Amino acid sequence: MLTQWHQDMATGSEAVDKQHKELLRRVDDLLKGAKNKKGADEIGRLMWFLKKYVRWHFRDEEKLMLEAGFPGYHSHKTQHEIFFREVLRLETLHAEQGDNTLMIVAVITAMCEWLRSHFNKLDKEFIDFLKETGQNGNGNGGHSESPDGNGEQ
Ligand SMILES: [Fe+2]
Ligand SMILES: [Fe+2]
Repeated sequence: MLTQWHQDMATGSEAVDKQHKELLRRVDDLLKGAKNKKGADEIGRLMWFLKKYVRWHFRDEEKLMLEAGFPGYHSHKTQHEIFFREVLRLETLHAEQGDNTLMIVAVITAMCEWLRSHFNKLDKEFIDFLKETGQNGNGNGGHSESPDGNGEQ
């Protein structure tokens, strides 16, 4: 299934993979919401929920990269920004078009392809760097708590 986590997405870091699974779960909730025609309010809420997690995950990863002195930090961060703009674009399209299930499914399909390749290539590259440099890829102390309930920054 499109939004399902597969072993080929594994980065080698349990902590990062856990976040990726949660991210995909939120994409899946939104996809199901759109397919089940949940209504604009609920879709809007699911989009917000996804956006919040995406932002939190990206920031968490970027923080780990900076701390680790990862040389690919800037180009990786640029990729995160590109994806985040897609999430914002989806929100805008939804605001403009209302309940357009086909549009949501199309955008989410593209997002899932992007995520799959990002997890599998770029995130894995970063985790490999951590391992090669003898750093801990499981983020003991490096990862912040889940975004829920902690408010926005
Ligand atoms: Fe990631
Ligand atoms: Fe990433």
